[in-house]
Amino acid sequence: MRYRFDDAFLDELRMKNDIETVAGEHVELRKRGHILTGLCPFHNEKTPSFTVYPDTQSFYCFGCGAGGEVITFTRKFYNLDFIEAVKLLAEKSGLALPAFTGDDGAANFRRLILEANRAAARFYHETLQTPAGQAQRDYLYKRGISDKMVITFGLGATPNKSWELYEHLRGHGYSNEVLVAANLIRKSVKNGKTSYYDQFRNKIIFPIIDVRGNVVAFGSRVIDNSKPKYINSSDTPVYKKTNEIYALNLAKNKNEGELILCEGYMDVIALHEAGFNNAVAGLGTALTSSQVGLISRYADRVTLCYDSDDAGKKATDKALLLFSETGVKTKVVNLPENTDPFDVIKKHGKERFRALLDLSANDIEYKLSLERQKYDVTTADGKVSFLKAAAAILALNAGAIERDVYASRLADELSVNKDAIIQQIKGINIKNERIKQKNAVRDAEKEKWKVYEAATGKNKTDMRIIKAEEILLANIILSPSFLTKLNDKLSNDLFFTPVYEKVFTAIAERIENNKPIDITYISENFEPSEMGVVSRLYMGGFPISNTLKECEDCIEVLTKEKGKKELGYKEVSQLSDDDFLDLFNNDKK
Ligand code: CTP
Ligand code: MN
Repeated sequence: MRYRFDDAFLDELRMKNDIETVAGEHVELRKRGHILTGLCPFHNEKTPSFTVYPDTQSFYCFGCGAGGEVITFTRKFYNLDFIEAVKLLAEKSGLALPAFTGDDGAANFRRLILEANRAAARFYHETLQTPAGQAQRDYLYKRGISDKMVITFGLGATPNKSWELYEHLRGHGYSNEVLVAANLIRKSVKNGKTSYYDQFRNKIIFPIIDVRGNVVAFGSRVIDNSKPKYINSSDTPVYKKTNEIYALNLAKNKNEGELILCEGYMDVIALHEAGFNNAVAGLGTALTSSQVGLISRYADRVTLCYDSDDAGKKATDKALLLFSETGVKTKVVNLPENTDPFDVIKKHGKERFRALLDLSANDIEYKLSLERQKYDVTTADGKVSFLKAAAAILALNAGAIERDVYASRLADELSVNKDAIIQQIKGINIKNERIKQKNAVRDAEKEKWKVYEAATGKNKTDMRIIKAEEILLANIILSPSFLTKLNDKLSNDLFFTPVYEKVFTAIAERIENNKPIDITYISENFEPSEMGVVSRLYMGGFPISNTLKECEDCIEVLTKEKGKKELGYKEVSQLSDDDFLDLFNNDKK
C-alpha cells in the first residue's frame, strides 16, 4: 500500500492535532464518559449523533455514517484531498512537512486551476485600473461603490476584447487544458480549426473566494442593460456553486456568529460598504442544504435579507426550512415591496437599513405575518382560516413558552379565546410531530444506507458476510496478535467486500512489520467516504467477544460462502429494513 508520510510524522501530526480539539473547533462537544458527542457537521441534525473516541482518536456519526480520524475529518470538513489536509494540519500546528514522494495527478490539476484563477483575478483587478477598464470603473462609481470595496472584494474588469486573458495566462505558462477546465477560457472548434477565447468579456468581475482564501470561481456583471445580467463560472474541479457562499471569507469572523444572508453580489458589497461587514450571499442558485451546513459552521444566527419580490419570498421560505433543520436561529428582514438591500441603502441610507434589521422578525413572526396577509381577518371566515394556519405554524415551529406567548397575542389581536388556540395547536401537533419524526428517522437511515452501500459495494455482499468480515477485522484491530496466530487461515482472498479487503491488507502488512495499526496510519489508502465504515471497526463499540474462537467462526463463514458463491444470497438491497437496521443497532449497545 502507498504511504507518503512515515509513522513518526503522522504520530506527531496526530499528537498536535488530537481529534477532540480539531473536531471541537467546529462542533460543540459534550463529554459523556470517555467519549464526546455533538451535532454532526456532516449532516443536519438536532440531536447529537456525532461521536468522538479519544482512545482511538477517531470519530463516527450514528446519524449519517461518516467517520474516520483527524485527517479524514479535515478532508471532509474542508473538502480537501489527503495531502492538502495533512498540509493544513501541519501548518496549523507548526510542523514542517517532510518531503513526500509522488503526487496525485488530480490534486495537482486542481492546484494548477487555483493558481490560474488567482492569476486571472489579479489580471482582472489590474485591468480595472487601466484605460481598458474605464467603463467598468465608471459604472461602479455611478452605483456608489468605493475604491475601498473594489479592493476588499478584489473587483475586476475584463476588456472588451476576446483574447486578453488567454494571452496573458498562456504567457504565464498555463496549459489550454487547465484554462478550459478552470472555465476561464472557452474552446471553440470551427471548420476544423480550434481556437480559444476568454469566458468573460466587457464585464465587471467578482472573484469568488472560499473560506480558505482560494479563488475558486468568478461572477461577472454587464455594465449596460443587456441580458443576461450576470454570467458566472460553471462548476469546475475546484468549484461547486451549490457548496459555496459568496463573501463568507470576509464575513466569517465578523459580528460574533451572526450573518446577513442576501441574494446577490451587489447587495453584499453595498452592505459591506455601509458597515454591515457580516453580509454574505448564495451564488445565483436556490440555497442548498450544503450551503446551509457551511453557514452553520460560522454562524449561529442568520438574518435573511432576500429581495422582497415573489421569488425572494419563496427563497426565504425555503431558506427557513433548511435552517430549521440546523441549530441556526433565523430572522427575516421585511424590506419594502420589490426592493433589495442595495436599493434600500442607496435610496434611504444605512440608518434605514439598520432600523429594518432591528425590526426583523423571528421565523415564527415572519411566517405568521405571511399567513396574515393571505386572509381578511375582519371577516369570521378569514379569522378562522388564519387561526388554523397560525396554529399549524406554531405547532411545527414553536416551543411551549413561545406557543403560549403567540397564542396570547393572537387571542388579543383577533378577540378569540386563548385556550381555543392552544387546543387547536395541540390537535395539530401530535399528527405532525409523528410524521416529521418518522420522516427524519427514515431520511437518516436512508442516508446511512447510502453511505454503507457506497463504501461496501452493495451487489457483492450479503449481511452475513459483511458481519463476519466486520467482526473478524474488529477482533484483529483490538488484538493484533490474533493475526499472527491465525496466519495460516487468513488471507485477503477471504474477503468479499472491497473496502474490508483493503482494511485487511493494510493492517496485515503493518502487523507483519511490527508496526502499530492505529487508524491514522492507514487512512491515506481510503476515500473519506469509505472511512465511515473503517472507523466503525475501530471505535470499540462493536459487539465482539474478542476471542480467537470468534475469529475462527467468522473465517469459517467466509470460507463456506466463498465455496457457495453460485448459490445467490441476499444482497444488501434485498434485505428487509429491519434486518438492515439490526446491523447498526448493534453499534449502540
Ligand atoms: N443572478 C445570476 N444570473 C442572472 C441573474 C441573477 O446569477 N441572470 C444571481 C447573481 O448572483 C445576482 C443574484 O442572482 O447577484 C441576484 O439577482 P438580481 O436581484 O437580479 O441582481 P442584483 O444583485 O439585484 O444586481 P443589480 O443590483 O446589479 O441589478
Ligand atoms: Mn436584487
